[in-house]
Amino acid sequence: MAMTGSRRDFLRSVGMAGGAGVLYSTMSALGLAPVPEAHADAYRPPRAGDLAATGRRGGRVLVLGAGIAGLAAAYELGKAGYRCHVLEAKDRPGGRNWTVRGGTRETDLDGRTQTAAFSEGQYMNAGPARLPQSHLSLEYCRELDVPVEVFANQNANAYIYHENGGGTLAGRPVRWRTAKADMYGYVAELLAQATDQGALDQRLTAADRERLLSFLRDFGSIGGRADGWAYTGGSRRGYATEPGAGLEEGTVLGPPPSLPDVLAAGLGRRFSFEFGYDQAMMMFQPVGGMDAIPRALAEAVGAHRITYRAEVTGVHDRADGVEVTWRDHRGRVRTDEADFAVAAIPPMIMARLRHNLGADVTAALRHPVPAPVGKIGLEYRSRWWETDEQIYGGITPTDTDLATIWYPSHGYHGRRGTIIGYYNFGENALAYGALPHAQRLERALSRGVRVHGAKYRTELAASFSVAWHKVPFIEGAWVDWPSQTGPEYRLLDRPAGRVHFAGDWLSHAIAWQHGAFASARKAVTAIHTRVLAE
Ligand code: ALA
Repeated sequence: MAMTGSRRDFLRSVGMAGGAGVLYSTMSALGLAPVPEAHADAYRPPRAGDLAATGRRGGRVLVLGAGIAGLAAAYELGKAGYRCHVLEAKDRPGGRNWTVRGGTRETDLDGRTQTAAFSEGQYMNAGPARLPQSHLSLEYCRELDVPVEVFANQNANAYIYHENGGGTLAGRPVRWRTAKADMYGYVAELLAQATDQGALDQRLTAADRERLLSFLRDFGSIGGRADGWAYTGGSRRGYATEPGAGLEEGTVLGPPPSLPDVLAAGLGRRFSFEFGYDQAMMMFQPVGGMDAIPRALAEAVGAHRITYRAEVTGVHDRADGVEVTWRDHRGRVRTDEADFAVAAIPPMIMARLRHNLGADVTAALRHPVPAPVGKIGLEYRSRWWETDEQIYGGITPTDTDLATIWYPSHGYHGRRGTIIGYYNFGENALAYGALPHAQRLERALSRGVRVHGAKYRTELAASFSVAWHKVPFIEGAWVDWPSQTGPEYRLLDRPAGRVHFAGDWLSHAIAWQHGAFASARKAVTAIHTRVLAE
């Protein structure tokens, strides 16, 4: 049976809501009910009027965790007058949204402490660092007056650096533009030759062939039929000598490496990164650091509604409310009560709390696998990547264990700048994370000089590294679910009594703030719908 997407979604949500679905449709008819399934574009914030119209009170909600999901839940519920209180174990809002500046101090789970010595105005976004245009994060930046600027996720002047493929390009940084010109050129050449030799005649008419050949000539900048469709390089690769005045036409960089060398280097494997829905330009970042988002959320929620250094130790669900036990910064154990709780802390940490939500909930919370991720910020005395290498923002991927080097997308032409010297995952993140900071730094520098030369070491002013799997109260950069359709995910996607879970880990935008916002909206909607039904 043909069914439109929205109709299917609607029926699915009614099915999942069960009995509440009937109520929901009634409220919908009255214009009271928000949408039970969390479609980002269909969200309607709870309003005080919803409650007043039916003579209800919003009630009290305890929010566990002042990361993006927790703050967003408190902020959205606050719009309708719910009395929210947020308990946060760390001494700052944001969770993984963490901007490290001079003076930032952090002690890892292994007991090692770092204090950042970055200069005034320098920072690293240790967690999220880029915002796609389609994400709710930008919508919240607009709503909360957080100014944004372009984040350069792609730069033709940045490099791709591969050591391990063999051939003449191994161990030589190649500009993205050069790598693309060569790979596109040779692929176009091969396809044009195959097409012209009749290899695709089963698929293509004579007219199709000519159209494809015309595209390939343009796409790969290759010669015509008379030239055997050959790729021979060109200005897309860049210049050895820049074009200048008068008779100086510039010297095109060339000749291109051979096809076997291009294939051996494997630089083309990097191209698809920017095709990803979430990684395509344009991308954005808040001016002055990503933590502008949680700071604005925390301000909107209200300082009196957030307790920092409050470590939740227990959650008890009752028929008429929720009891939350937590330890304050003096070690005193305290208990709070509320009508509902939003549990917006990492699942593996939630699993260790004392709670009465059931063994199946504990098992489900342990089901997703935390991801180890590492990042290092390197502040330099000069912006040598701009002055010497004409790289203004963007990313250099490598096949070394540092994975990627990021150049700052702000402060252009300033005196100093802070790059990301590694952003790595899995085994590489575990290997760096196991080291004390000085050795992480040394390892990162030893790889970096192979891409950028000695200045990568000599110009360094300060550094700070994070191993997310070792950060207290966070313990991972994100989680990977074995399945997001399995019983564990579905169980936590529903409230456990009066405890509603929220976080990017309960979304289809894991490792993005968008997922946290969307999940918070879903929890808020569910709570508000329940309150209106009670
Ligand atoms: N969203 C994360 C990133 O862009 C994983 O790197």
